[in-house]
Amino acid sequence: MRIAGLLVAWLALPGLVFGAEAKPSESPKPAVRTVQVKDGIILFKVRLTPGVPDPGQVVEAMVEMFEVPPVPDPIYGEQIPVKDSTITAEVTDADGEGYTQRYLLHPQMDAGTYGFHYTPVRKDILRVVFKGKHKGRKFSTSFRTPVAVWPFKDASALKSDGPAGGSRMPALPSGMGGPAMPASPAGTRVPVASAAKAMKPLPDAMQRMGDKWVLLQVAMFAGRAADMNRVKTGATTLQQVSMVASGIQTDMTDFSTEMKELAKAFEQLGVAAGTGKRAEVASQFGKIADTGCTRCHFVHRWKVLGTLAEYPKMLH
Ligand code: HEC
Repeated sequence: MRIAGLLVAWLALPGLVFGAEAKPSESPKPAVRTVQVKDGIILFKVRLTPGVPDPGQVVEAMVEMFEVPPVPDPIYGEQIPVKDSTITAEVTDADGEGYTQRYLLHPQMDAGTYGFHYTPVRKDILRVVFKGKHKGRKFSTSFRTPVAVWPFKDASALKSDGPAGGSRMPALPSGMGGPAMPASPAGTRVPVASAAKAMKPLPDAMQRMGDKWVLLQVAMFAGRAADMNRVKTGATTLQQVSMVASGIQTDMTDFSTEMKELAKAFEQLGVAAGTGKRAEVASQFGKIADTGCTRCHFVHRWKVLGTLAEYPKMLH
């Protein structure tokens, strides 16, 4: 199993790319699925929306992390929320020779609650592994989750397909800490009058970056192996989008420099793809997702960190 990269998580793939067809199904797919998994004293309650995505649909994963002490805690009882933990989620294809995508979970407002998004690109049964460290001990626990497969019974989870017991989350999540995530960017984007549009060059540039990034993801992961020609084209487009973004006036002191760095990184990705260097393409893609997109978002988009330097170096 190889680590193909850390993906930023708000991305949605247009259903068109995959020719998603609506099949009449016996039991309706659940809007939300909840899963609980444990490793020793660590308990995760996971809420996935939609419960069973189709390829190209962005999945919102809200994760509550608890410690289950041998003796109930006087304040929290049997489940103590674990806050400020650094948790990664690895999402892997079922067939074993597939790819793994890594996400760094971002903390939500509620202590002990974390979130990430991912976008499955094929009908599949994915494995999601949470990894991290708690009180000096490493933990790792996993569950399986279907894409366009329903009904589905998961033996690896403690409990599924029902509301998570004792969960502090609302019955329907109101959204992540970051901006609300449309299931399909094309479907939900609100048309803006051109005058208003000219007033907000930054979100426009980032939206374009997100759209092009989705195409790059498809080029990287939709097939058995990355499509090098499409990766090269995608990288070149993203290099241009980054250069345009670097010229936008913002009050972020590091924005322009970071965008120029990003442009350089995409240029390198394009060169690696052009010369067919697959390992380099995979590692460069992961590096861009991590220190290119996610690091800046942690500071300037989600405002989880104060500075870029505080971003953990655990992934790359
Ligand atoms: C130097 C900082 C920085 C980097 C690097 C960066 N972003 Fe962003 N991004 C932002 C900020 C700031 C916002 C929030 C913009 C706003 O809404 O005002 C944002 C928002 C977004 C959005 C949401 C746009 C919307 O519709 O509101 C997407 C999608 C996005 N970024 C994609 C990406 C991708 C993909 C990459 C990497 C290839 C990336 N970004 C790299 C700063 C960055």
